[in-house]
Amino acid sequence: MHNVRQINDDYYYMGCNDRRIALFESTYRVEDGVSYNSYFLDDEKTVLFDTVDKAFCGQFFENLKFVLGKRKLDYFVINHIEPDHSALVKSVIEKYPNVKIVCNQKLKQMLFQFFEFDFDIENNFQIVKENDTLSTGRHNFTFIMAPMVHWPEVMVSYDSVDKILFSADAFGSFGALSGNLFDDETEINIDEYRRYYTNIVGKYGTQVNALLNKAKNIDIKMVCPLHGLVLKKQISNLVEKYSLWASYSPEIKSALVVYSSVYGGTQNAADIVSSKLAQNGVKNIKTFDISHSDSSRVLSEAFKYSHIVLATTTYNMEIFTSMDNFISNLVKHNLQNRTYAIIENGSWACNCGKLLKEKLEKLKNSKIIENEITLQSSIKTSQSSEFDELAKILAKDILG
Ligand SMILES: Cc1cc2nc3c(=O)[nH]c(=O)nc-3n(C[C@H](O)[C@H](O)[C@H](O)COP(=O)(O)O)c2cc1C
Ligand SMILES: [Fe+2]
Ligand SMILES: [Fe+2]
Repeated sequence: MHNVRQINDDYYYMGCNDRRIALFESTYRVEDGVSYNSYFLDDEKTVLFDTVDKAFCGQFFENLKFVLGKRKLDYFVINHIEPDHSALVKSVIEKYPNVKIVCNQKLKQMLFQFFEFDFDIENNFQIVKENDTLSTGRHNFTFIMAPMVHWPEVMVSYDSVDKILFSADAFGSFGALSGNLFDDETEINIDEYRRYYTNIVGKYGTQVNALLNKAKNIDIKMVCPLHGLVLKKQISNLVEKYSLWASYSPEIKSALVVYSSVYGGTQNAADIVSSKLAQNGVKNIKTFDISHSDSSRVLSEAFKYSHIVLATTTYNMEIFTSMDNFISNLVKHNLQNRTYAIIENGSWACNCGKLLKEKLEKLKNSKIIENEITLQSSIKTSQSSEFDELAKILAKDILG
């Protein structure tokens, strides 16, 4: 049966919940699933906004048929061509061959990369550019380009009558919906918003900032993203978080301790430094074994914390694999403005500290505390003062 929810007089939500995939984009754990959101406007003209993943083809067309009733589909706005939202684009055009596809030129080009059509759809396109408008009767839309707010073809659509922003991947979250559609019906999980943001668009802070600057000038009462809840109450809170994340500014002044360890020596060091930081007054410290924690979660925490302690082992003259992946992840996501401390471990030719430093030097505006600690297999009691000193320096830096 159809499963849609009315948003207001004219709009319907017709997204689908995926609780079957283990990894979103074959990369990110989604234990609570993910939603693919699609929207429908019942105006003088009918409008479909984006589609869903191909796994939900049956449900999607049942929903679309229901919201349309006896009406035809007039417009199909495509904000993002990534297949989690556009897998059904071809099927929509085949079922509604007279539909007007509203998209930008880049998206049109990419659409033909993803799909082949048996008939000519050239006349179906209404190509829009920055600030172009469309009236569908009672509602008026403005289209705003948001390149690299995930992919190069992304745009967002703004309804200036109801003051709704269709924000594509921006302001989305992991997590399937559980009936409650609006952020005033259920608590938002900010950790999942951060994990989604940092992993999906974290690298593109400059482009996200560009979109935030454009959005400043418009009055937004509701945000309809392509994943997660429809936002009303949390808009300003999330805009504030997005400005921090996009400028790579930490949310809290505290320490994130990330370690890798095979036999426990380095873990011992990580726990000792965490404990000494706490004894020096640092609050909300978080310690992760990077080999066992979800790396997307730890990356997300790195965007939150101001100071990061890295403790790792030398492994065949390299940085231990899970730590190496983590550091590469920081570099790949362009993390900036952080202070690092290093603890290295090795039994015969310890070089992981040096290698770590070389990698961290690629991160903009980052500082590495000079008091690096070297362990030869395990911590000796005589090294206690080195830990005291490191914790004192870090705590002072954190607490100002
Ligand atoms: C497969 C393997 C390769 C290693 N390669 C090196 C190495 O190249 N240089 C070195 O100094 N230690 C090397 N080690 C030793 C570890 O870095 C060292 O024993 C360290 O103390 C382990 O810390 P842990 O107790 O936290 O696991 C290697 C260990 C393993 C298991
Ligand atoms: Fe996307
Ligand atoms: Fe998406």
